[in-house]
Amino acid sequence: MLKDIFMALSENQILNGAAKKYGLKMGAQHVVAGTNIAETIESIKKLNAVGISCTVDNLGEFVYEKAEALEAKDQIIAVIEAIEEHQVDAHISLKPSQLGLDIDYDFAFENLKEIVALANKYGTFINIDMESNKHLQPSFDILDELSKEYDNVGTVIQAYFYRAEEDIQKYKNFRLRIVKGAYKEPEEYAYQSKEEIDKNYVELIEWHLLNGKFTSIATHDHNVINHVKQFIKDNNIPNDKFEFQMLYGFRTDMQLQLAKEGYNFCTYVPFGNDWYGYFMRRLAERPQNMNLVVKQVFNK
Ligand code: FDA
Repeated sequence: MLKDIFMALSENQILNGAAKKYGLKMGAQHVVAGTNIAETIESIKKLNAVGISCTVDNLGEFVYEKAEALEAKDQIIAVIEAIEEHQVDAHISLKPSQLGLDIDYDFAFENLKEIVALANKYGTFINIDMESNKHLQPSFDILDELSKEYDNVGTVIQAYFYRAEEDIQKYKNFRLRIVKGAYKEPEEYAYQSKEEIDKNYVELIEWHLLNGKFTSIATHDHNVINHVKQFIKDNNIPNDKFEFQMLYGFRTDMQLQLAKEGYNFCTYVPFGNDWYGYFMRRLAERPQNMNLVVKQVFNK
């Protein structure tokens, strides 16, 4: 019930637009690294100092104007330049819809290509985040086209989709982030129950650890993490074939602990003014995250 409310709020374009004007509010500052690049580089440096690498996401969705997509592209290019300038341990996560996929496929493709080409020059990896089912196939198409020319690109497999098993086999030679899936998807395309999603999630991780190039296990679920740790041990999976990933500001103690134990760890670092949809999806996933909001209200 609460999940549905937060999911509907995440898609409300009026609230999304309004939130941009007011800066980080409602506790979002605990899970968003900053509103600009300078603040974000400082957050990355702090994480790097404790042995954690970062994947940086310039927040943004519901982009239906070319000018807005071009602005997002310029911002991502500026982040790549900043990563190079400051020599921080970080790469990029981006969303095709932010770069114009809802406007025109070719336009979005050209924007992504410009980003990937520049990043390739610096040896910076670009992860194409996966969004809702309507973006899924065009995002894979973009990956197919880009990978003909560049090898610094990979993507995400969302375990709630029935097609995930087929996709993971097709893309096994890519660096893949495996997640449960964050959007509200119909039964036509996706498993609905937590049990089915969790089961598929673990199976996909195991398969890719055994057969794939590099696996990013992106979850805050300690049961999955403990299971994966044992699986890695039992199957002698080398440390340089996988990493754990979590979102900035969530389970920070566990993030530090995993890095301390010697696992590669990467924190997903979102930044920017367009934080509202991202924040509402996190509340939908785990309404207990409302604690962040409550604390914020009462600490004033
Ligand atoms: P889930 O929400 O299933 O929780 C399982 C259990 O873990 C909970 O019952 C609780 O016990 C524990 N737990 C979870 N969060 C906790 C917390 N904050 N504190 C304490 N305990 C907690 N999705 C997508 O569709 N496309 C994408 O590109 C990405 N990218 C991405 C990157 C990264 C780095 C992450 C971590 C996640 C994504 N996601 C995503 C989101 C993903 O699909 C999923 O929605 C969320 O990670 C929530 O699922 P979890 O597996 O984290 O645990």
